Amino acid sequence: MSKNISNLSGRIGLKNNLFQKLSERSLKSKNDSGIKEIADEYKMGVSTIHGAESFYEFLRPAHREKKAFVCNGSACMCAGTQESLKKKLKEKLGENKVGEMFCLGHCYENHAFHYNGENYAGNDINQIDKIIKGENIPQEKYFSKSFAKTSFLMDDKLSSLDQFKDNLNKFLKTDKKEIINSLLSSNLTGRGGAGFPTGMKWDFCSKANSQKKYVVCNADEGDSGAFSDRYLLEDQPLKVLFGMIICGYVIDSDEGVLYIRGEYPKSIEAINGSINSLKEAGLLGEKILGTDFSFDLNICIGQGAYICGEETALIASIEGRRAEVDVRPPFPVTEGLYKKPTVVNNVETLAAASGILLNGPEKFSAIGNKKSAGTKLGKKHIFQKEY
Ligand SMILES: Cc1cc2nc3c(=O)[nH]c(=O)nc-3n(C[C@H](O)[C@H](O)[C@H](O)COP(=O)(O)O)c2cc1C
Repeated sequence: MSKNISNLSGRIGLKNNLFQKLSERSLKSKNDSGIKEIADEYKMGVSTIHGAESFYEFLRPAHREKKAFVCNGSACMCAGTQESLKKKLKEKLGENKVGEMFCLGHCYENHAFHYNGENYAGNDINQIDKIIKGENIPQEKYFSKSFAKTSFLMDDKLSSLDQFKDNLNKFLKTDKKEIINSLLSSNLTGRGGAGFPTGMKWDFCSKANSQKKYVVCNADEGDSGAFSDRYLLEDQPLKVLFGMIICGYVIDSDEGVLYIRGEYPKSIEAINGSINSLKEAGLLGEKILGTDFSFDLNICIGQGAYICGEETALIASIEGRRAEVDVRPPFPVTEGLYKKPTVVNNVETLAAASGILLNGPEKFSAIGNKKSAGTKLGKKHIFQKEY
């Protein structure tokens, strides 16, 4: 059954993605209008579309009736700031108009809440009248600092389009096997939790026999207190996207997607802006930099389901299925998105892959133990006040 849905959804693919389509319908409409049309377009039953839609917190009618959402992630809860915040918001917006969202990634300042598509935290609540009027308020930003001799993740070696172009030119002329060997010798292991060697994952997928393959960036960072992916998406977007493009080149894929949680609106904005800039500069799209390699990137916005961080649930979600975990094997490298070979990597893994290619694998493998090498972003690197 789920295989059929994957294949039916895959007929249309990422460009007119089913999950985005059903999310948009649900966020726009208060009733079932439009469901039948989507079901017909994708040649699925209405119940299948309904089943998928009803999985997500943000798409439920009760959620959509709220105007503001206080963060219920553990940092905000432990700080004890959320009850009084909720009270203040209810006074302004109405008793039934304030809901909850899970971790908005402002764990360093607490008092976090979401209003009208934006996140606020710290002292922002004191400006609630201006926020409700739609005025822009100055917001405090975190500071970040690298404590490593070589900064693979926080340096500025990939912060301009010129740097991006020079490096892309270089690596699209580099032998694919050489890139895989660099990752293997760096001892980079996945930063999403399971710790699988990244070079091996790319190598397996490069050897899979298929006309179509995908690169998926797992940006569903749902673990409370972990806002490191948010830092990379917002402050180092080109490093993340470079990792995806090089992965696409190595495995022979022409399309990728970033699954970014809806609780991170600024991350979505930053990545969207960077993708558009890369397209305008000819660094994404058809025959990049005059080579035979074409690659495009898409964004899927999560709708409030923690489990979508697990890779098989994330794939199910993009396909427009209910985001339930699938049995492995088969692993995504052989049967992933739309049942095609897929590399699913965490945001930090992809940024680290870029850092390794730019700085050399030896420097990375020299840090840590042989099983798990390199630097790791932590809360010590991103904080509210400058050290
Ligand atoms: C319940 C659960 C939640 C997960 N959440 C995330 C997540 O938010 N982000 C992430 O990258 N990986 C998450 N993972 C791990 C992914 O399934 C997968 O291992 C990872 O995206 C692979 O990328 P990596 O090899 O770069 O780590 C989660 C796993 C489980 C079991």
